[in-house]
Amino acid sequence: MAETKLLVVDDEAGQREMLAGFLSKKGFEVHTFASGARALEEYHHVFSPLAIVDMKMPGMTGLELLGKLREINPFIQVLVLTAFGSVETAVAAIKAGAFDYLTKPVENLDELLLKLEKAVQQNRLVVEHKVMSERLAEVFPTSEMIGESPAMLKVKEMISLVAPKDATVLITGPSGTGKELVARAIHALSPRAEKELVAINCAAFPETLLESELFGFEKGAFTGADRAKQGRFELADGGTLFLDEIGEMPPSMQVKLLRVLEEHKIQRLGSVKEIPLDIRIITATNRDLLKAMAQGSFRDDLYYRLNVITIDMPPLVERAGDVLLLTEKFVERFSRKIGKEITGVDSEAAELLVRYNWPGNVRELENIIERAVVLTRSDRITREDLTGLTLKGNSGAAETVVPLSDMERRHIKHCLDQLDWNLGLCAEKLGIHRNTLRAKIKEYNLRKS
Ligand SMILES: Nc1ncnc2c1ncn2[C@@H]1O[C@H](COP(=O)(O)OP(=O)(O)OP(=O)(O)O)[C@@H](O)[C@H]1O
Ligand SMILES: [Mg+2]
Repeated sequence: MAETKLLVVDDEAGQREMLAGFLSKKGFEVHTFASGARALEEYHHVFSPLAIVDMKMPGMTGLELLGKLREINPFIQVLVLTAFGSVETAVAAIKAGAFDYLTKPVENLDELLLKLEKAVQQNRLVVEHKVMSERLAEVFPTSEMIGESPAMLKVKEMISLVAPKDATVLITGPSGTGKELVARAIHALSPRAEKELVAINCAAFPETLLESELFGFEKGAFTGADRAKQGRFELADGGTLFLDEIGEMPPSMQVKLLRVLEEHKIQRLGSVKEIPLDIRIITATNRDLLKAMAQGSFRDDLYYRLNVITIDMPPLVERAGDVLLLTEKFVERFSRKIGKEITGVDSEAAELLVRYNWPGNVRELENIIERAVVLTRSDRITREDLTGLTLKGNSGAAETVVPLSDMERRHIKHCLDQLDWNLGLCAEKLGIHRNTLRAKIKEYNLRKS
């Protein structure tokens, strides 16, 4: 471990030298100063995370020095030395931001060490917290990933932990919970941020097209290939490849993807030249891949490759508190966009929003608020503006609890039937992607009645 820098400021030479001697032996890089003024002059060079400061010194007092040091380095942890019996001084120092105090003469050196160790930890914690929340704020600008619920804080923490590594991440969770947002945040926080995040929706392409999209092709590789084209693997080189809806990837492509993951190289269609790759893979799915594996539609060797780290997105109903926070941000965003001055939602509308069960998650909330902002005639969104939001069965009578998937199946079927199986419209109403709807239709085996 590198030596921790430590400032010792005391006008009494004996005490100063004793502390310096002892603490250097204990592995600190000690910088001693006989006055606050001298310490301040040099602090820019030393910039230690820790300081031991005598309170009573001629010239600049310890308290003044403490304040000035904290101006230069807000994270510095200062341990103050006070004369025996001067509790007020100690209290004043703590109030001014000192970490702790010791009474002079310092005799209990174990206690000193213990306090310094705690101060080191404290410093590390505040710095990390500051850095993390700054970096989080950078990549999650307020209009981006919103959520302060414990569930979302856990997600954000996971993101900041995995982002710097190159590990493959699988993002799971129901439709509209923000999986793509998470993928983008991981990339933005990673060392690859300067390079591209290339996204491809595996459900959006038929099998052969998916292959040529991913691998690229040489001129003449197939009919219509009148010029060579780079695939997404190549485009993502040095950066991140986001494979969305990985659960929809056809088995033959799964094998090919697995090979790329193992060999870190590809060949364009129609070429034998091997192109080396340096990519990080992030995947997302709203399908239960374990079930898909059990059914044989998803390869388990690929699953284990992709699932090094999983981030499971909680459905919106499990993020108490976030609904109104998201609502507020969405109202702000959409009213700015269309130039209306809307200040928020009224209390009836808020209650409805909080009690609703959000099958379409954040995307549904986003859509509903956008519509409400357009519709409303007042400066606050009211219950009437929240079209499409109805609470069912709130009589308090015991309801039969049905599995969520059951509800989802019925809800989708109902919507499709109502809209005469217009998939585009139905996906929009449900607040999910059209491909997600297709996948669900397949999953639930839905047919026109
Ligand atoms: N925490 C959040 N804060 C702000 N906006 C969010 C949040 N989560 C999701 N959104 C917004 O909701 C919409 C859906 O998010 P996203 O596309 O990331 O979901 P998804 O999980 O990938 O959905 P699907 O499975 O249908 O592809 C987007 O417009 C996104 O910006
Ligand atoms: Mg998505």
